[in-house]
Amino acid sequence: APARRETFSSRKLFILSAIGSAVGLGNIWRFPYVAYENGGGAFLIPYLVALLCAGIPLLFLDYSIGHRFRGSAPLSYRRLHRAAEPLGWWQVLICFVIAVYYAAIIAWAAMYAWFSLTKAWGDDAEGFFFGEYLHAADGAGLSFDFVSSVFFPMLAVWIVTIVIMVAGVNKGISRANAVFLPLLVVMFVILVVQSLFLDGATEGLNAFFTPNWASLQNPGVWAAAFGHIFFSLSVAFGIMVTYSSYLKRKTDLTGSGMVVAFANSGFEILAGIGVFAALGFMSVTAGKPVDEVASGGIGLAFVAFPTIVSEAPFGAILGVLFFGSLVFAGLTSLISILEVIVAAFQDKLGWSRKAATLVVTIPIALISLVLFPTTTGIHLLDTSDAFVNQFGILACALVTVIVVSAGLSSLPRLQKHLNLTSSIKMGTIWRILVGGVVPVALGYMLINEIQTKSTEQYSGYPAWFNGVFGWGMAGALIVGALLLSLIPWSDKSKLEDPEYE
Ligand code: PHE
Ligand code: NA
Repeated sequence: APARRETFSSRKLFILSAIGSAVGLGNIWRFPYVAYENGGGAFLIPYLVALLCAGIPLLFLDYSIGHRFRGSAPLSYRRLHRAAEPLGWWQVLICFVIAVYYAAIIAWAAMYAWFSLTKAWGDDAEGFFFGEYLHAADGAGLSFDFVSSVFFPMLAVWIVTIVIMVAGVNKGISRANAVFLPLLVVMFVILVVQSLFLDGATEGLNAFFTPNWASLQNPGVWAAAFGHIFFSLSVAFGIMVTYSSYLKRKTDLTGSGMVVAFANSGFEILAGIGVFAALGFMSVTAGKPVDEVASGGIGLAFVAFPTIVSEAPFGAILGVLFFGSLVFAGLTSLISILEVIVAAFQDKLGWSRKAATLVVTIPIALISLVLFPTTTGIHLLDTSDAFVNQFGILACALVTVIVVSAGLSSLPRLQKHLNLTSSIKMGTIWRILVGGVVPVALGYMLINEIQTKSTEQYSGYPAWFNGVFGWGMAGALIVGALLLSLIPWSDKSKLEDPEYE
């Protein structure tokens, strides 16, 4: 008989792990800039609307599917309906692409924590990052020359992650989150306090919070809010389905979800304060207005922050706290992404935890270690992120909600399940939000994305590069998902609906 499915030993550990997944690089380097660019203080309104009308309802949808059908994404969707299995594999493949490059960013951050103590970046942090550190090739040539200063920290990231994953849900994932998440919060709070004492912090905070009310009339601002919430809560790509499949049968799903969602948002707002206080310092030191020094993503983390670290009092401490936070926030997200893939193969092929983990994670680690510690690595990362993370997840989320709500009419059944043991009951409004508001918002954003991606040459890369690594990969995931669905399940009895009292 197949081994019983492991469960989180407590609801607290599930919540901790779900927060660990949700709180990622996006909270630290994405949210502050998105908010600043889209109305500052006024952004809070579309943000809250998106959180309440789309993010949380979709989070509950993921929970209801994972918990009701008690399986990895492909198994849960398959149990929902036999035709829905490819949705699960699509999510698995998206997680695969993200995992492959996420590890590289964590590795850079780990190196930068060390550099904060040992290097003075001076005022050419940008040249240092792309040149001396990454050895990035000009343009998007496929040179793939080996870069050892990226390889070794990446190897370390993969070893740590694989060791955690092999240990399983309780001994590995829960424990890692129980250590990394509190550590992250403590480090980050100290970082924010330190930033608030920097010269210019007030200017930075003013820039961040000053509301631009006119922005509320701009549909792009609303799209940015919805887009950020989907990404930030890690909804609709299998993660929350997988984690909630490990919950005990009697669990307060909606109550837990609220804790996760608000913890994630709280962390983002805290990050906005810390990041903009530090950018205020940078603006005062450089004698430039805040909008000229503000940035997000890789530019914020690996160009602006190193500059701040070089110039701020106790900059080395600031650097260790900032890059250390990126490492811990990233690791807990990477673990959750990998778990989607491991669980899927474990279910489909009937492997043991250990076998599934090794057979899945080692090849992923190897692919990641071959592609990214190279002079082409950053370009690949840029393109995969743009096409899979920003475009692919929207498409996948849209198709998933349409199939589940309109295609299979599953919402009443899932609503019933949510209300079975949960403290906060879902009414008709939940079905309206998931089946109506969410698809409209996702559809609007997707059309927008397709337009920008096909009209602008993305990041100035040649058309063939975007063609192969962007559109090609986004399409390959769909084909791959269909093919994976055709592989037979090792144990057909698994496909039966688990009994639910
Ligand atoms: N939700 C994470 C964040 O806000 C990002 C993430 C993406 C996590 C994909 C897991 C998977 O940073
Ligand atoms: Na997040």
